[in-house]
Amino acid sequence: MLMNKPEPRIIIAVDGFSSCGKSTMAKALARNIGYIYIDSGAMYRAVTLYCLDHGLIDGDTVDTDTLRSLMDDIQIDFRPDSETGMTHTFLNGIDVEREIRSMRVSDKVSPVSVIPFVRTAMVAAQQKMGERKGIVMDGRDIGTTVFPHAELKIFVTASAETRAQRRVDELRAKGVDVDFDEVVANINKRDHIDQTRKESPLRKADDAIELDNSHMTIAEQDAWLMTRYRETVDKLR
Ligand code: DC
Repeated sequence: MLMNKPEPRIIIAVDGFSSCGKSTMAKALARNIGYIYIDSGAMYRAVTLYCLDHGLIDGDTVDTDTLRSLMDDIQIDFRPDSETGMTHTFLNGIDVEREIRSMRVSDKVSPVSVIPFVRTAMVAAQQKMGERKGIVMDGRDIGTTVFPHAELKIFVTASAETRAQRRVDELRAKGVDVDFDEVVANINKRDHIDQTRKESPLRKADDAIELDNSHMTIAEQDAWLMTRYRETVDKLR
């Protein structure tokens, strides 16, 4: 009798520009297929919070000598929240999920995430998390640097205007009023920094599948990603 071979467990890398819905789709896919989801941006945000809490940032300048000597003191992990079951980021045993999304951290994460020894440490930790496969990770350099051999790589884009509108809607829903043009300018600036930085610039891996979700609903993009996943594992069987 022919036995069905077990479904192969793979690595799924989701890279792309900021605010284009990467984490929403990556999280939904991981939940649907029973994979671990890792938000690599949260790790750079956690290191940034650590730097702020230890007085290592002055303006846009990071005290790299002190940070280097403290790197072994920074432990980042992800655990499910006991009430909601949602994954939260922990820094040295403390839940920092809310704090790492604050403007205080968002403002300083760019200078921290370009420091070579910070990237080396984060990439090593991310590769360790992927050792047993069965993982969906989103970020900027997952398909190029962290998992260059990932079985499925997605590169997500959307127009700056679409992304700005989503961001404005999100903030207004939270009662925060923002100027649309200012948000577009901020997104364009972040794109420029992400694409032109020397350390691991954002770029599409040659074998990544591009998704422009400017005119897609969340349900449509989730279905699109599930189809790419199915195609990939079916080919590996
Ligand atoms: O996706 P995000 O906005 O939470 O990312 C926060 C910052 O970290 C952003 O400035 C880009 C950077 N980042 C990175 O350099 N490499 C990654 N793999 C993920 C994020």
